[in-house]
Amino acid sequence: MKQIGIGLAGFGTVGAGVFKHLVQNRDLLSQRLGLELAVRRIAVRDPRKPRAVSAPAENFTARWEDVVDDPAVQIVVELMGGIEQARALIVRAIEAGKMVVTGNKALLAEHGKEIFDLAAARQVPVFFEAAVAGGIPIIKAVRESFIGNHIVSVHGIINGTTNYILTRMTDAGLDYAAALAEAQAQGFAEADPTLDVNGWDAAHKAIILASLAYGTWICPGNVFVEGIEHLTARDIGFAKTLGYRIKLLGIIKCDAGGRIEVRVHPTLIPEKHVLASVNGVFNALCVRGDVVGETLFYGRGAGQDPTASAVIADLAEAATALDVKRRDCGFMPHGLYGESKPLDEIVCEYYLRIPVLDKPGVLSQVAGVLGATNIGISSMIQPESDGERTELVLMLHIATHAQVRDAMARITALGCVKGQPQLLRVEHFEG
Ligand code: NDP
Ligand code: HSE
Repeated sequence: MKQIGIGLAGFGTVGAGVFKHLVQNRDLLSQRLGLELAVRRIAVRDPRKPRAVSAPAENFTARWEDVVDDPAVQIVVELMGGIEQARALIVRAIEAGKMVVTGNKALLAEHGKEIFDLAAARQVPVFFEAAVAGGIPIIKAVRESFIGNHIVSVHGIINGTTNYILTRMTDAGLDYAAALAEAQAQGFAEADPTLDVNGWDAAHKAIILASLAYGTWICPGNVFVEGIEHLTARDIGFAKTLGYRIKLLGIIKCDAGGRIEVRVHPTLIPEKHVLASVNGVFNALCVRGDVVGETLFYGRGAGQDPTASAVIADLAEAATALDVKRRDCGFMPHGLYGESKPLDEIVCEYYLRIPVLDKPGVLSQVAGVLGATNIGISSMIQPESDGERTELVLMLHIATHAQVRDAMARITALGCVKGQPQLLRVEHFEG
């Protein structure tokens, strides 16, 4: 049977998983593809390190260049992570005419335009199903299955670590620090979970999806990103009382004028919405197309096996398309949509918790500021006071980010406000 030579750059969590499953399911893949995917070379930082998944010692090298340059390698799989070395590897592979498969969402979010411009110029496809939502085939869905649709919106839980933390805060009443420590102990969070908890891992994925959906590469500076580090068990509790769950949501939309909106932030969503019951490390995405209507994708968004599944799917597609001339080399830019919407013009509803003195006139001062900035209150709860202090928990009607920033500055400056107010966004999935 014809063999296709694969070079693996990276043999960590995902790379080793890819190798393991290529071996385990060799017969199945060969029967389905009519060819064999044969790993010829593997680059790692330390070839002498003991590994849980074993591969022939002679395949290993400490130089990723050896993988790209090996004439027996036809498809290069980048699973090293990081930016500069991975970028150099992908550029070298494309320039050598070798198809690339990668799961590197941070690299694509930052340098996607440059990489796909080069891929198109050289007619060398780059595949990246593993970069968004692990084993869920969302890239294929948006790019191929919904090719006849304008994408109206995407709402996604696309970071497993933060979804685990928020689930434990909601179900077990843990505070943020305890839930994060538990996620690390369980091996879900990275040793350095910064990009997970500050929202940027999800933002990288949202940038990739939005770019595919709207045919223009989204600049990270045009994305509104807020993490979950400032969330408290009190907010989770108040949200529950009000009939909501808090999720780190990626939201991608396009307005009537074709302006694109991409944001990632902790979001109150109605407890009856399907995304509210996506718990633990699972990911889920609701994609709405103008032809297909509402669709839902659910599955494991990270980890060795689900991510390996996505990489192998890309490998299979690459291997069967080696001699086929493709119009789409990973990303097809077009001019059918407009610019990114300025962040200050993004509109949504809000939850606002304000620690205040418990004395007459306080509510009217807060309501006065909101009225003066033209922001309506849709409901309010006030927990039992300790005699001196209490909190106002307000649900606000729609307002722009600029309006709310102005209101927050004025509210924080009020003498009756005793602490940092907590502002969170609310989504009712109506647009
Ligand atoms: P790991 O840190 O587990 O593995 C990285 C691998 O790359 C290791 O084998 C390491 O070698 C090797 N490596 C790193 N730098 C170099 C270098 N300069 N030269 C040669 N080899 C190098 O990462 P993951 O497997 O978790 O992630 C890989 C990629 O997949 C990342 O881009 C990540 O964002 C993405 N991804 C990961 C998911 C996951 O669940 N883990 C999910 C979706 C995407 P050594 O083993 O010697 O240290
Ligand atoms: N850190 C990511 C997550 C891994 O928790 O979802 C998958 O991209």
